[in-house]
Amino acid sequence: MITVDRIAELRTVVRQWRAEGARVGFVPTMGSLHAGHISLLAAARFRADRVISSVFVNPMQFGPSEDFERYPRSPVEDSQLLADAGCDLLFLPAVDEIYPEGRESATRISVKPLAGILEGAHRPGHFDGVATVVAKLFGIVQPDVAVFGEKDYQQLAIIRRMTADLDIPVEIVGAPTVRSPDGLAMSSRNRYLSTAERALAPRIHTALKAAAARVDQGERDYAVIMEQGARELRDAGMQPDYFEVRDAATLLPPVPATRELVILVAARLGKARLIDNLRVALR
Ligand code: PAJ
Repeated sequence: MITVDRIAELRTVVRQWRAEGARVGFVPTMGSLHAGHISLLAAARFRADRVISSVFVNPMQFGPSEDFERYPRSPVEDSQLLADAGCDLLFLPAVDEIYPEGRESATRISVKPLAGILEGAHRPGHFDGVATVVAKLFGIVQPDVAVFGEKDYQQLAIIRRMTADLDIPVEIVGAPTVRSPDGLAMSSRNRYLSTAERALAPRIHTALKAAAARVDQGERDYAVIMEQGARELRDAGMQPDYFEVRDAATLLPPVPATRELVILVAARLGKARLIDNLRVALR
């Protein structure tokens, strides 16, 4: 695996690969890698001849009171995991390389109205930071295909929408959420959990499954399902920010034409803020 921290170096390598006719796959990350990230590498490998991954903790997507400074960083382990997963090139830029004019970028991408709801309502500016850095990374790497996790369902929807709206010629692939055996969705932020909190955290997935089962059994009063879900999280000692049943395609409240739902959760547990989701087809 080649590791580079400069855009110019990355471009030299990618130019060579393209000259050889290789199809290039890309998996952007913020590092502190786990099996969820590695599954995206496998999905990219499957669809491309060469795979690039980036590890960049993007300051623009963190709010002033959020965890940018203490976000877990493990570059040595990350590099080993990526090499083992068959990554061909690791892009590990410094903040100055991505934002040479300062920590922000003069141009910001805002995917309205998707960026203002759900996660966006609780983390103002977060998705503008995500959309902007992903657009920049696409401009730097110029991949044929990029893989993102369904774990961050709203992020995936925003990236799909941005790519379509800006006619960016990158195929966006969504990959299923990788979970621990007890159901907890893998996340770099799970490292913030104490042992006791870690034991409670799978209750998010339990509550999601219970809500999906209620839909399956014919419950169509979604307000009842949302209230019950939030209560189950509070009973487990968490503070839910939202427990929402939405149309899986639009992320808006379900309408009669809705065919598939997604139930989205964000909850605070100790120092961690965890998100998860589950899709349910309507029968
Ligand atoms: P990060 O949280 O590191 O996640 C990188 C990618 O891994 C995202 O596409 C995310 O959805 C996926 N992922 C995380 N946990 C997963 C799991 N348990 N199963 C499957 N996929 C999982 O998301 C970001 O970084 C950033 O916002 C980024 C897109 C890199 C822009 O900075």
